[in-house]
Amino acid sequence: MVQKLIEKFKELYGAEGEIRKYFAPGRVNLIGEHTDYNGGHVFPCALTIGTYGIVRSREDRTIRFYSVNFEKLGVIETSLDDLVPSKEAGWTNYPKGVMWAFEKRGMKIPYGLDVLIFGDIPNGSGLSSSASLEVLTGLFLKETYGFDVSMVDIALIGQDSENNFNGCNCGIMDQFASAMGKKDNAIFLDTNTLKYEYAPVVLEDAKIVITNSKVKHSLVDSAYNDRRNECEQALKELQKVVDIKTLGDLTEEEFEAHKDAIQSEVCRKRAKHAVYENQRAIRAVQALKAGEIKTFGELMNASHVSLRDDYEVSCEEIDILVDLAWKIPGVIGSRITGGGFGGCTVSIVKNDAVDTFISSIGKAYQEKVGHDAEFYVVEIGDGGHVI
Ligand code: GLA
Repeated sequence: MVQKLIEKFKELYGAEGEIRKYFAPGRVNLIGEHTDYNGGHVFPCALTIGTYGIVRSREDRTIRFYSVNFEKLGVIETSLDDLVPSKEAGWTNYPKGVMWAFEKRGMKIPYGLDVLIFGDIPNGSGLSSSASLEVLTGLFLKETYGFDVSMVDIALIGQDSENNFNGCNCGIMDQFASAMGKKDNAIFLDTNTLKYEYAPVVLEDAKIVITNSKVKHSLVDSAYNDRRNECEQALKELQKVVDIKTLGDLTEEEFEAHKDAIQSEVCRKRAKHAVYENQRAIRAVQALKAGEIKTFGELMNASHVSLRDDYEVSCEEIDILVDLAWKIPGVIGSRITGGGFGGCTVSIVKNDAVDTFISSIGKAYQEKVGHDAEFYVVEIGDGGHVI
């Protein structure tokens, strides 16, 4: 496949010069949802699907972008002197944003590039195609210009570009997973300190199955930012009665003891989710390490209930998928994954139940919702790298 991309690159831009190849993955989060901007823990892993980049240096200050996913848009040309977001720039706002964020840190980009991109993450699925494009860009900028940045720096630069160039106020989880992923491992990340640890995902006789609801409700970005604001409000009120820096500093007991300091019921529910979900993530990793997969699954289920009822980021289609999954013998756990309001669920399913899972949920979902779901039995892959 990479060979095909190189052929396309040569056809578009000519065959001369040194052509380099890169890959950065998408991610799925196993547990610890909406905790990454609340100083809590997350537990994502990188996938083997993601974004490929074929890149060659130029001598002038022009950048040419082409995406195999958006062939109709053709080659989009811009200049290093024009690193500002614009509607017309479409998807190229992501790589441009990363370039902008490097320059902002004093790493000036000396000459332009020809770039071809291809992503095999399903569109709008919430498996972090944009974070993978950001990490990919960070990686090829580092390699091309010899910038002295680590993969963690690349994740932070990606987040900065998404927050301040592309206007989505996301946390660090997606970029971190894409940059720092490790085959067969999930990353237990403390988003408060960025300390992390790899935990082998040993599921013995089970698999990770992602189910794509193929819906994406349009309120995603505004609702995401609302949740952030509600959590900040709750934190401010709690700080009047307890000495904490983030919601992730609280145990469940401490939260229960102080929760009345939060005036609005909505903010109290949001904070409750943030606190409990963080503790669930910590416990889930302990369970996985101890080989207690059943406990891990129960924590995933509880995570879904909390995201549905307290954080209110699920939606009808996702709840249908999770309810169907919970009824199937051999399903160890199932929950919504990612930002919410559509996208995907993640389930741990016993090997001998995978076929039933796919066929029976597929049929029932089609009947109830009127369109197909998609299923991916996934492998955990490495973080961004040169090919
Ligand atoms: C989106 C954001 C992440 C994280 C998740 C929810 O994927 O990009 O930073 O907040 O939602 O856990």
